[in-house]
Order: sequence, then structure tokens, then C-alpha cells
Amino acid sequence: MTLAELPKIELHLHIEGAAPPEFVRRLAAEKHVDLSGIFRPDGAYAFHGFKHFLEVYEAATSVLRTPEDYARLTRAVLERSAEAGVIYTEAFLSPDFCGGGEVAAWRDYVAAIAEAAAQADAARGVAMRGVVTCIRHFGPERAKAAALCAAETAGEFVTGFGMGGDERMGRQSDFAWAFDCAREAGLGLTTHAGEWAGPESVAEALELGVARIGHGVRAVEDPALVDRLAERGVVLEVCPGSNLALGLYPAPEAHPIDRLRAAGVPVTVSTDDPPFFHTDMVREYALLNRAFGWEEDVFAELNRTAARAAFCDEALRARLL
Ligand code: ADE
Ligand code: ZN
Repeated sequence: MTLAELPKIELHLHIEGAAPPEFVRRLAAEKHVDLSGIFRPDGAYAFHGFKHFLEVYEAATSVLRTPEDYARLTRAVLERSAEAGVIYTEAFLSPDFCGGGEVAAWRDYVAAIAEAAAQADAARGVAMRGVVTCIRHFGPERAKAAALCAAETAGEFVTGFGMGGDERMGRQSDFAWAFDCAREAGLGLTTHAGEWAGPESVAEALELGVARIGHGVRAVEDPALVDRLAERGVVLEVCPGSNLALGLYPAPEAHPIDRLRAAGVPVTVSTDDPPFFHTDMVREYALLNRAFGWEEDVFAELNRTAARAAFCDEALRARLL
């Protein structure tokens, strides 16, 4: 089987970050919004560094204004996922962008996205579940509102809660109320950590009681922490192409995913924000194959790890395993 044909499970995909630039340009034209400043002459997203990436991301997201916009986005994103051989993806969905944290509006967005996802599964065999995401640099109060939205819609489609955004703002523990609320609603928990802050941020994430960590790669700087991750079986949602595109590591061979796996940490692979980082799941696998010689057997192991760690019901998990 070629890398393109291998079935793939992805646990870390930001729905807005997966918006193809041509999709955002079309919406901007329909809504008469000038977004020319966020694109390069060749049409790709233009940004330099993480902070600017977040600004461009939020500018692109500003043209996604209705549940139908998100349904269209979901269809476009899952079409690309299916082309890359993805059979399951967990998408980060933000009440901050979908209805501004209002529960009633949020419900409409979730309904539209879930319906578009169900259609994509029926047509292309790619299942999706939603992980409601608060945005760290928007602060703990808005995170509470996001958690309440998550709790109100927890069910077959909304299965997890997480946090993205600028990890350099505040501490993980500032958001404990939101994570406790989501846990009580029965949601699986994950948070971005160890991407823009060091191992201490990953240790704080463990205190929050998450089952998974978004990125987590900088845990490698603390061998005792790596042992704790391995012992506890905390799953890392590693996004090598994202880390390289944002300059976290200078070259694929310098990326710590191979060392983390060798130390017994359960690692999985995802794209994060594929068109921003010029990646997809086939390119991620190809990068790992070239840098570390990973072959089909390792990718099968990653997918088993991802299927076990997926925030989904047991019937769907059985389909993935
Ligand atoms: N939101 C979208 N992509 C992100 C990333 N790589 N880190 C934190 N927040 C994000
Ligand atoms: Zn992310």
C-alpha cells in the first residue's frame, strides 16, 4: 500500500485552520470583505511567526458567519481529508467563532456541522467528531462560556473539550473551571501544551487531568516528565508539519516525535491547520518516513493508538480499530 492509500486517523485539526485559502477568498468575495492582506501573491496564507499566524487565522475566520458557512467549510475540509485517506478526524470547534459563546446560536452551528459531517461519512467514509475548544488568549471567562456550550451539546457528535490559542498567556490552571465543567459533562479532555511553552506547561496540563495533549513535544526537554507521560499513557497529538512550518524545529530530523515514541510515550500524528502549513496527512506520513524511516507498521501502530484515544463511542471505535 502507498502512504496515500493507508487509512489514517487524525485527532487534532482546527476546523477554521483547515479552511483552504480559495474557500476563504470565495466567502470574502461573497460578503464583500477585503482580506487581500492575508494572502501571498501565489494565493497561500501569508504570515510570519506564531503570533501573526493567529492574527491571520482570526482574520480568515471573520468571514465564517453562519451555520451554513460552517457546513460548507466542513464539506470542503472532509473532502480533502478523504482524499488523503483519513477515515476519522477530530475537529476543534470554537463557540467563540460560532455564535460568540451564546448557547442557542452555538446549537445551530453544531447541528449544521454535524449534519455536513454525517453526509461526508456516508459519501466518503470519513467520520468526524467535534472537540469544543476555548481559546487561551481570549481568557478564562470566555473559556467558561465555551465549556458551558460544550456541556449543553455533549453527545454523539460533540465528544471532547480542549484549549488552543497562545500558550504563552496565563497558566493552564487558570482554565480549571472550564475543564472541570467539561469533565462533568462526560467530555474527553485535551489541551495544547508544550508547543510555545516548555515542559512546565505539559506538567500543568497533567494537573488539569487531560487524557491527551495537543503537541506536547517540548516535554522531551524533561526526561522525568517524558517518563511520567509514558507511565500514565497520556497521548500526544503531534503535528510535525505544523511545528516545522512555525519554526519550532529547524529540520524534520530534529523533531522529537521519534525520541518520544522510543521512550514509550503514545504518539499520534495530525496536521493542525493543513493549508496554513502546506501539509496534509499524506505529507505528514511522507515526512516521517523520510526523517525516521517509519513504514507501514509504525503508521498502523500510530493509528491503533489514535483509535484507542479517540473521543468517540465504542461502535465507531470498533470501526476504526
Ligand atoms: N490554533 C490553531 N492552530 C494552533 C496551534 N498550532 N497552536 C495553538 N493554537 C492554535
Ligand atoms: Zn492545534
